Amino acid sequence: MARHLITSALPYINGIKHLGNMVGSMLPADVYSRYLRQRGHDVLYICATDEHGTPAELAAKEQGLPVAEFCAQAHDAQKAVYDGFALAFDYFGRSSSPENVEITQHFARRLNENGFIEERAIRQVYSPADGRFLPDRYVEGTCPHCGYDKARGDQCENCTRVLDPTDLINPRSAISGSTDLEVRETKHLFLLQSKLQHEVEAWVARHEDDWPQLASSIARKWLNEGLHDRAITRDLDWGVPVPADTWPELAAEGKVFYVWFDAPIEYIGATKEWADQDPANRDWKSWWYEADDTVRYTEFMAKDNVPFHTVMFPATELGVREPWKKVDYVKAFNWLTYYGGKFSTSQKRGVFTDQALAILPADYWRYFLIANAPESDDSSFTWEHFTATVNKDLADTLGNFVNRVLSFSKKRFGEEVPAGGEPGEAEAKLGEEIAALLAEYESHMEALQFRKAAAALRALWSAGNSYLEEKAPWLEIKTNKEGAALTLATAMNLIHLYAVVSEPFIPATAKVMREAFALPQDTATWVTAEEAKALASVPSGTPFTVPPVLFAKLTDEDLETYKERFGGEEG
Ligand code: 2FM
Ligand code: ZN
Repeated sequence: MARHLITSALPYINGIKHLGNMVGSMLPADVYSRYLRQRGHDVLYICATDEHGTPAELAAKEQGLPVAEFCAQAHDAQKAVYDGFALAFDYFGRSSSPENVEITQHFARRLNENGFIEERAIRQVYSPADGRFLPDRYVEGTCPHCGYDKARGDQCENCTRVLDPTDLINPRSAISGSTDLEVRETKHLFLLQSKLQHEVEAWVARHEDDWPQLASSIARKWLNEGLHDRAITRDLDWGVPVPADTWPELAAEGKVFYVWFDAPIEYIGATKEWADQDPANRDWKSWWYEADDTVRYTEFMAKDNVPFHTVMFPATELGVREPWKKVDYVKAFNWLTYYGGKFSTSQKRGVFTDQALAILPADYWRYFLIANAPESDDSSFTWEHFTATVNKDLADTLGNFVNRVLSFSKKRFGEEVPAGGEPGEAEAKLGEEIAALLAEYESHMEALQFRKAAAALRALWSAGNSYLEEKAPWLEIKTNKEGAALTLATAMNLIHLYAVVSEPFIPATAKVMREAFALPQDTATWVTAEEAKALASVPSGTPFTVPPVLFAKLTDEDLETYKERFGGEEG
């Protein structure tokens, strides 16, 4: 059994994420982790909030809170939503943790010792009134291109042109409003990525054939453009401090590392946070440092994150010259759009994860999102598609099957799985079909092809419906009671099999299905091909209960309400 290290891109701390964000990172990572755990693998699924950088400072300022306090609250708020979605992280950490500070500073020292960091002087806007250098987006003024008077020093929101703070007309500090600004020389640390170009290229060349095309093509594009040296420090109050033992002058000036330097290191930091909670039993280093070949590391992210994970972070890890684990497989996603357009916070278009949970339980979303994950292309969320999918796949094909079989059997045979005659041709055929579909489902899961896996799961549910229609136990019972009992007992075995194999997608519903039967509730199990063929894991005489309706059907009225509330159509 392999040891699987799994991480999903760290969500920014600055606000609750929308569905598009979740389907491209945390949700598929959770589905994959759950599947591997059920197959008996040793899995460590790590994620965390990405807490540094200007967006965190700005969001805190907007709420009138000290940054540390804002981040602590925002972390808990995000964690509550992810719990609601049943994301089973082994640990959900914080990039502002002492563990991450320690490891980030260690990385920087090692890179410096190895000649990959250089101090360089650059010219930057300084605000005497604020007593600090201003990051580009903290400088506001009038756009020289369109005249918009609230343009930011990095970009004009109105005409989208990329700007330099010195381009702005009548520049002012976004913090204090002061117009008394000067350009001063200041020193920053630069990571000499150009010196690592060849090594990164060789490393990518060894891995890219295994990666999905989306990941390898983005990595190639960045390498072809050439790796540039990058400033890895910033003048912010909030961040991982530059270590004073190595750079006393910069540390005294209060420089911190750039958020994209410490964020990926937090994958390691959060693993240490996890271990620090129970040091006697958890060994973080065995996953990351001199990890042997049994550790397979898979990362999940949306495509805009791919350059950082396939090129920049590996460059950092290589430059450290220590045996840190590097990624084996990069699962990258395209965008989920909202009616073909962007999810937009400011224009109130799209669905945020907390809102989604307030409308319907997590399993509705989990199934729909994974079944329509933007894997090979962008995919579009529409309420029409969502309600149709819920009604057809979840309410009819799965939910109705479960309730129909259990209620009918209870009514005619009582509250135990009935004893029927010997399985016949129909059961043999069904067993073959289920075993084949199960094998298909497994192979797609192992290839991290989530849409295809969802299609195979749906086909498993459908096979049960076809069998039931064919055998029609409600008619059969009139002439052949034993035959009807066999049909129902077989269908109940299917329900139990569905409970096991649907767990990665719809964990809460899977639990309800499992618990319908008075059997040992061992969740770390899977179904073998033989068991799938025999369909006899739930013996006759097993007591069962009829669960409440598993999935509610969504009405036309629901659809209209959702569209009205969240905006629809025009994308
Ligand atoms: O794009 C984002 O949302 C970033 N917060 C992802 C960081 S991933 C990792 F490197 F930390
Ligand atoms: Zn403009």
